[in-house]
Amino acid sequence: MILFGDQLIHKDECAVSPDDRGYYFGDGVYEVFRVYNGKMFEAEGHYQRLAHSTKEVRIELPYSLEELDAKLHELIAINNLQEGILYMQVTRGAAPRVHAIPAGIKPSLMAYTSELPRPFQSMKDGIRAITQEDIRWLRCDIKSLNLLPNVLAKQNALDQGVQEVIMHRNGTVTECSASNLMMVKDGTIFTHPANNLILHGITRAFVLRLANELQIPIVEQAFTTEQLLHADEAFITGTTSEVTPIIEVDGHPIGRGIPGEVARRLQDEFNKHIPFA
Ligand code: PDD
Repeated sequence: MILFGDQLIHKDECAVSPDDRGYYFGDGVYEVFRVYNGKMFEAEGHYQRLAHSTKEVRIELPYSLEELDAKLHELIAINNLQEGILYMQVTRGAAPRVHAIPAGIKPSLMAYTSELPRPFQSMKDGIRAITQEDIRWLRCDIKSLNLLPNVLAKQNALDQGVQEVIMHRNGTVTECSASNLMMVKDGTIFTHPANNLILHGITRAFVLRLANELQIPIVEQAFTTEQLLHADEAFITGTTSEVTPIIEVDGHPIGRGIPGEVARRLQDEFNKHIPFA
């Protein structure tokens, strides 16, 4: 079942209007929640970010966050989702195509669940990445449906036989196609500040909290691709990637070319916080 508007319906009963602005303008925002053992992970952070995204693009959520939370829980329960993700999006709604925001337009909400195992293999072995110019707009803090640069970047990585793209603006590293990036140098974690140039990852914030508890120093300061190549270790954080080590960038090994110790400690700590049934 999926949530469409305020109804739980079968996926094949869902009829999206061709006039939906999400469809032709990408005029909408979304969230991806992790579900572990039937429970939503860090839900409050996702709701706060959704509230930020909707406010910034002037879409009014059709429900209060409390009502939405109740509906999403119902969706998880009815689909009996144990291990996976809950995707939700809200578009501005349906109206004949004009750029300006049509008066009185009603937002359109859709959410579904999908089973997804945790990425144990890549978390254990690490992944390889390439760097690429970040060609996105300057409001990457908004979780907008417009993901064309991210889609093309990710495909470029796969075409080159690696798993992820590290994006940079003029040599300054921002984030990855669907995750945030951290590097470790001399025991300190460095990561891009949560400003308009990156998505304020819920996993990023969670992992920084864990690092703080583990008394690992953190500097929220941008670094260059050159500094990244000389890091002791690097890893990505994200709802679907958790803490995944990066062992190679543009063909150069990071550190000793194997997952680093800080990433391992954070993975262990992360595991302790996963909700059990
Ligand atoms: N992507 N940066 C970008 C560009 C992202 O798309 C994502 C998440 C993140 C990590 O954010 P979080 O920790 O809140 O998942 C960072 C989701 C998973 C997606 O688009 O599928």
